[in-house]
Amino acid sequence: MTKRIITFGTFDVFHIGHINILERAKKQGDYLVVGVSSDLLNFEKKQRYPVYPQEQRVRILESLRFVDEVFIEESLDLKVQYIQENKADVLVMGDDWAGKFNSMQKYCEVIYLPRTPSISTSEIIEVVKAL
Ligand code: CTP
Repeated sequence: MTKRIITFGTFDVFHIGHINILERAKKQGDYLVVGVSSDLLNFEKKQRYPVYPQEQRVRILESLRFVDEVFIEESLDLKVQYIQENKADVLVMGDDWAGKFNSMQKYCEVIYLPRTPSISTSEIIEVVKAL
């Protein structure tokens, strides 16, 4: 049986940490679905829009060989619905979220993978601003 994996994130200013988590997420099963958070959702969370608009973030993710499907995550409150609609067997998140998604264990296996050290979108934005 095909083992379906789901993961979520903004994936703005795409970097090596994003590659690493997606590649390792795919290795947990056979089919990887990525929920990319909408521009509006990011604005609500962080009071700023992503650098790359959602259509571009979706296209970057779709072009990766270890990503099978991408959809836009419109609301943080729809995690259960997204997991069920996508028939996910496993939810993968970076360990910056460790413990935060344990309530999803009712619906699927939940795995937290270690983040890649020393890189993040926020840090890249700060570095570029300071140039
Ligand atoms: N991620 C990772 N290693 C990093 C950065 C991100 O494994 N160095 C993972 C996160 O844990 C998450 C996914 O990549 O599962 C998407 O993270 P996202 O928040 O979009 O990227 P960040 O670089 O963490 O962005 P920000 O600095 O804006 O929080």
